[in-house]
Amino acid sequence: MVAYSKNSKEQKCNKVVLAYSGGVDTSVAIRWLLENKTEKVIALAIDLGQGEELKPIQKKALIIGASKSLVIDAKKEFINEYIWPALAANAIYGDYPLATALARPLIAKLLVQVAKKEGADAIAHGCTGKGNDQVRFDVSVMTLAPHLKIIAPAREWKMTREKSIEYAKKHNIPVPVTKKSPFSVDLNLWGRSVECGILEDMWKEPPENAYELTKSPKLAASKPAYITIGFKNGIPVTLNAKRLDGLKLIQRLNQIAGNNGIGRIDQIENRVVGIKSREVYESPAAIVLLKAHKDLESLVHTRETVLFKQILDQKYSQLIYDGRWFNPLRKAIDEFNNYIQRRVTGIIRLKLFKGNVTIVGRKSPYSLYKEKLATYGKGDLFDQSAAEGFIKLFGLDLKSISSI
Ligand code: ARG
Repeated sequence: MVAYSKNSKEQKCNKVVLAYSGGVDTSVAIRWLLENKTEKVIALAIDLGQGEELKPIQKKALIIGASKSLVIDAKKEFINEYIWPALAANAIYGDYPLATALARPLIAKLLVQVAKKEGADAIAHGCTGKGNDQVRFDVSVMTLAPHLKIIAPAREWKMTREKSIEYAKKHNIPVPVTKKSPFSVDLNLWGRSVECGILEDMWKEPPENAYELTKSPKLAASKPAYITIGFKNGIPVTLNAKRLDGLKLIQRLNQIAGNNGIGRIDQIENRVVGIKSREVYESPAAIVLLKAHKDLESLVHTRETVLFKQILDQKYSQLIYDGRWFNPLRKAIDEFNNYIQRRVTGIIRLKLFKGNVTIVGRKSPYSLYKEKLATYGKGDLFDQSAAEGFIKLFGLDLKSISSI
């Protein structure tokens, strides 16, 4: 058994707050922390809309040996303080809407909050030493509470999955009896991240059982579904003309878009820690909302704003991906976006069909579209003669570098 700490003479902590999911690794972590690192473990499970009953998980932590087991419902905060600002920034990394990445700073913030309240001197999380999530947790905790020690058992213990299960059995830690998923999965309202197993062969198409939120486009409805999304100040507030709160809207849209096979992503990713990896995601609602929001912005902002904002959007997405959320720069971009979103009100009409989402209509009281200027038909008010003089000056500098 390799489950011992690197430095056994290290001084033990008094109390550790552990980000606890109820899975094998964080369950084993409770026991391992008590053996190697601390006198007391407080398990903290957070509901981010993963659609799982957290009560049994909460009980299980106590059985394993946690001195306290807490559950926090953070769905509303996740939507209002993380998802909507990310949507305002059209946040995407490659084709990935950043569901896992966005959740990490919120979990870190809640860990710190509980640690302060409970007088703990450390926090712990279940990340390995190979991914982005450890970076996101550690950097967030370092920023919010530099005095707290950070322990990542899985980064230290070097146990394989089989070894953790063996350790669990030895210590009577209940391991879920359900068929072990061949993948490593992270799930919240904004999407599902799937890794490991067969997916590590990047030449192989992901098998159908890698997906849970989306129907295979092949089996999706044979007729397109038309939907409308109404935005107010950059936030989606209606679905098919019905007012819904953020939670219902995202849940409903996950169903509708998922049924139409929308939101499957398969990409080669560039991790912060230098590893290239193959990642599979499902983000039905996020993909639809991001597309709709971006289109509405294009309609209501001036060309210069649209182009300038793309640069900020890209920076914002990277800040999320890299786990640098609690950063004054992110807050400054939020301020810019809040100002800009005041025009982002209107309705977008979309067609969902066998894995594709297309925008088929848009309207807004702030629309800058003037049909009389755009038209090639009658009623054209655009003064084409003005274009000639404009172009003469616009291209003048380039003309002057020509050698002919
Ligand atoms: N690669 C993604 C990211 O860095 C997802 C990580 C998800 N974690 C997991 N255990 N599947 O955000």
